Amino acid sequence: MTELEATLEDMLAVERFDPPAGFTRRRPVEADRAAADLDAERFWADAARDLLTWDKPFTQVLDDTNPPFYTWFADGELNLSANCLDRHVSAGRGERVAFHWRGEEGERRDVTYAQLLADTQRLANGLRSLGVAAGDVVGIFLPMIPEVAVAMLACARIGAVHNVVFGGFAPSAVRERMEVSAAKVLITVDGARRKGRRAEVKAAVDAELGDLPALEHIVVVRGPRTGGDGGASEPAASGSGKEPAASGTGLAAGVGTGASEAPMTPGRDVWYDALLAGADPDCPAIPLPAEHPLFILYSSGSTAKPKGILHTTAGYLLGATYTHRMVFDINPDTDVYWCSADVGWITGHSYIVYGPLSNGATSVMYEGAPDYPDRDIWWQIIEEFQVTVFYTAPTAIRTCIKWGPEYPGRHDLSSLRVLGTVGEPINPKAWLWYHLVIGGGRCPIVDTWWQTETGSVLISPLAGVTSTKPGSATQPLPGISPALRSEDGEPVTEGTGVLVITKPWPSMLRTLYKDDKRFVETYFSRFGPTTYVVGDAARLDADGYYWIIGRIDDVINVSGHRLSTAEVESAIVAHEAVAEAAVVAEPDEQTGQAIVAFVTLAGEQTGDAAMEARLREHVAHRIGKLARPRRIIWADDLPKTRSGKIMRRLLRDVAAGRELGDVTTLRDPAVMAVITDRVRTARDDEE
Ligand code: WTA
Repeated sequence: MTELEATLEDMLAVERFDPPAGFTRRRPVEADRAAADLDAERFWADAARDLLTWDKPFTQVLDDTNPPFYTWFADGELNLSANCLDRHVSAGRGERVAFHWRGEEGERRDVTYAQLLADTQRLANGLRSLGVAAGDVVGIFLPMIPEVAVAMLACARIGAVHNVVFGGFAPSAVRERMEVSAAKVLITVDGARRKGRRAEVKAAVDAELGDLPALEHIVVVRGPRTGGDGGASEPAASGSGKEPAASGTGLAAGVGTGASEAPMTPGRDVWYDALLAGADPDCPAIPLPAEHPLFILYSSGSTAKPKGILHTTAGYLLGATYTHRMVFDINPDTDVYWCSADVGWITGHSYIVYGPLSNGATSVMYEGAPDYPDRDIWWQIIEEFQVTVFYTAPTAIRTCIKWGPEYPGRHDLSSLRVLGTVGEPINPKAWLWYHLVIGGGRCPIVDTWWQTETGSVLISPLAGVTSTKPGSATQPLPGISPALRSEDGEPVTEGTGVLVITKPWPSMLRTLYKDDKRFVETYFSRFGPTTYVVGDAARLDADGYYWIIGRIDDVINVSGHRLSTAEVESAIVAHEAVAEAAVVAEPDEQTGQAIVAFVTLAGEQTGDAAMEARLREHVAHRIGKLARPRRIIWADDLPKTRSGKIMRRLLRDVAAGRELGDVTTLRDPAVMAVITDRVRTARDDEE
């Protein structure tokens, strides 16, 4: 046992970490909490006046006359891009860096608030010239480059609704998301790079969605290029001689390193830089109603069809602004903040783009992977930019633990003062490692619980204020009312239950895009129209601290990425060799959960390694690499009830290595014996 391991063992006995001294809050938190407990609506109204800049002040706060369709500040008007840009520039902070962009080959680009505003205005005019009007949907499929923020802000400036798709998704998943939202314009990139390889994104996009009837234009950003002419300054060493990647799915997978011109269809496609160059530099921010739709973000639910979660302007921005400031104790004048998520997830929307920009903070935006060129790149970046607040996912921490403390050990991390995590429960050991090895034992950790649907963090410690317990997301933020319910709806005041939120909050989703019915059914049918059902189970301890256990629906959380079992199943079943498939999660030390697929092949096909590789590739192509099953178990039959329903519960038990539950209701109980045996053999082979 190393000295670090011994210390970690000892620290597991520590139940509670009190906030370190030296944190001075910008807004007195305890006063917020008291105000919110007294009158949550009034608390939010005060915060909205205090933190946001309004063109037309609101007189109405919450309208709860038609639950679950709530509105906030509905008669007020404001522009979100003006809140994120103009108000900082006009206050003399235009030269402040909004993003220290760091390319994966070591390039740096500092983008100031004034530059962001200038580009946002030009792009907003450019989009208008392409026929985009308020309410139109604009798709965004971009890697981690500053243009992604410009694209989002330009939409917000003219009231267009953005629909960002995570770069790890395959073009066919982009197609689905564009098609169901009837996107008019897509903003994408010619090519993206990952670990020295290049993916020809535009060509792949053309092949998959060139024929979408609603899609009138494609705007193409010139992405950073290794050894090429791309948008980044100072290209570093050429990437020639690297192996081409095995598959071309998503922005992250490469097909070689050579520079190439993207195919452009005249009349439909336009280069981003040409669009900006030809556009009027002035685009005044138009006042928009508080409830004007801001964005759709697709997320996985319990059916194969992704849910188009819709957020609106003022309430969402208030949530992102307030929580970013309070949870992380942000001081925009002195902090350098870095959230390592991808902008294609809600974490990127709220805590890379909107929260930090609304607060006028300086952030790092990093293009690359955590292990390229070496496994110390994150820590090098923290040292290079003197990052003070760092926000990442437990899965990333577990990977760093596996790599070993020598990588962070190479760098001076003493600039750090607050650490955050999001996306999945963090086990106490990983929490302590983060605390000791990255935080030097001095940085409070904020374990932030929230969802795409909640828009911003709802349950979390406040840095420097809340006493933390490793593994617990601790307590609700001021103005948020979570509770636990038993299966039959009884309140649970201590112990385990289903997590619900009993009062509306400003940044909550407003509906599922063009699907009010599914919105009500998914979140508000179980306990009535005023109780939001989260989809997680949690435990409440005697101190009133929440411990999130995990999803209770058919959603799998792989490395903090939400995937629907039904979506993966339907991708597998779409393969001609497959007759039937069932997908469940198995626990995984590193990724939290991993996907296991039980597959019955059609006809005389045999399940061998080649078939397994084919199916995995097929899933990567349909959804994205992140959805590839870790393990495929060939099954001649799946466990079914007499009425033919697949009993996933039993498959989950097998995958988790648990005793099987009741098998007597199975049509053919012998099926489970065969499957259990195969799972065991597959595991033994692995070891
Ligand atoms: C899980 C990500 C435990 C949870 C912001 C939730 C967490 C789902 C935590 C939402 C946390 C998120 N502790 N579990 N701190 N944060 N989760 O929509 O199951 O991608 O329902 O939003 O992630 O995932 P989503």
